[in-house]
Amino acid sequence: MSTSTGSTKLQVDLRRHLREEGVEPNLAHLICELAEASKYIVNAIRTGDLGVAGTSNLYGEEQLALDVLSDRILIKRLTHSGVVSNIVSEENDGVIPVSMDCAGKYAVAFDPLDGSSLVDVNLAVGTIVSIYDGCDLLQPGRNQAGALYILYGPRTTLVYSVGNGVHEFNMNHLMEYTLTRSHIKLKPSADLYSPGGLRNCYTEGTRLFVRDLEERGAKLRYSGGFVPDINQLLIKGQGIFFYPHLTNAANGKLRVLFELNPMAYLVEQAGGMASTGTERILDICPEEPHARAPVFIGCSEDVLRAQEFIAKHG
Ligand code: AHG
Ligand code: MN
Ligand code: MN
Repeated sequence: MSTSTGSTKLQVDLRRHLREEGVEPNLAHLICELAEASKYIVNAIRTGDLGVAGTSNLYGEEQLALDVLSDRILIKRLTHSGVVSNIVSEENDGVIPVSMDCAGKYAVAFDPLDGSSLVDVNLAVGTIVSIYDGCDLLQPGRNQAGALYILYGPRTTLVYSVGNGVHEFNMNHLMEYTLTRSHIKLKPSADLYSPGGLRNCYTEGTRLFVRDLEERGAKLRYSGGFVPDINQLLIKGQGIFFYPHLTNAANGKLRVLFELNPMAYLVEQAGGMASTGTERILDICPEEPHARAPVFIGCSEDVLRAQEFIAKHG
């Protein structure tokens, strides 16, 4: 389980934590820039226009003003950071080139506002970020240099890892991020489950897996937002989330580069597992920036059991 540092004496801010962890300076700068950008996104969510942007993204999904605004805030911040080579964003086609010089730079894939349609019903949403050394974003997720998310809920929290454990920060009244939990760990087994996707499109294997979870007395907790749903299992130290292969969508819904890889990296760093149901998420070699995959992510024993049901029943 994580160690909570709720007492005020340990008011370690994000920049100090990155320095004390010996994080490579350009990577530390990038993470701090993302933290800075989140302050503008928080304000946009709290006060911004909840309407539509009048545009649609490459999926043909109508973009909300907040999707486009959050996207612009992040692209602008990263472009001027001096440490970014390329960008992929859920809200843009293809790769956005920033610098031809890869040395000492990072390639960044992000979902600027995941779950944005939940804002108008006042549910929690988040920003998800995946970071690679150099220029190339079409790599397996196991090569990530780091990953983070920012959760815009009743509190604004930032959770990151660069390979030395998973750490949570809370935005205080001065909009600074201070350390609240370090080395977050998952237990081997879950009693919370978050089943995404239409149940009447589940395959036999997933259906039997859900029945098994219910027979074990697991509680259903599903917000419809990937970031709060993953944050819940990390902070509670147990849970399993899945958005599986469906009879009408063999690759499920979530995107590998900027939703699954960063969350899989964080969950594995916390001692959990992330699978498509047949292979490790972090071993997927994405063919294009918006590739999708099914996902079972969380406590290792539950992910392994899901894989068994799918191996047996499809
Ligand atoms: P986005 O808002 O970036 O398109 O992503 C939404 C995703 C994710 O947040 C969540 O897990 C999933 O959509 C929920 O999908 P359903 O509404 O089909 O359950
Ligand atoms: Mn998303
Ligand atoms: Mn999104």
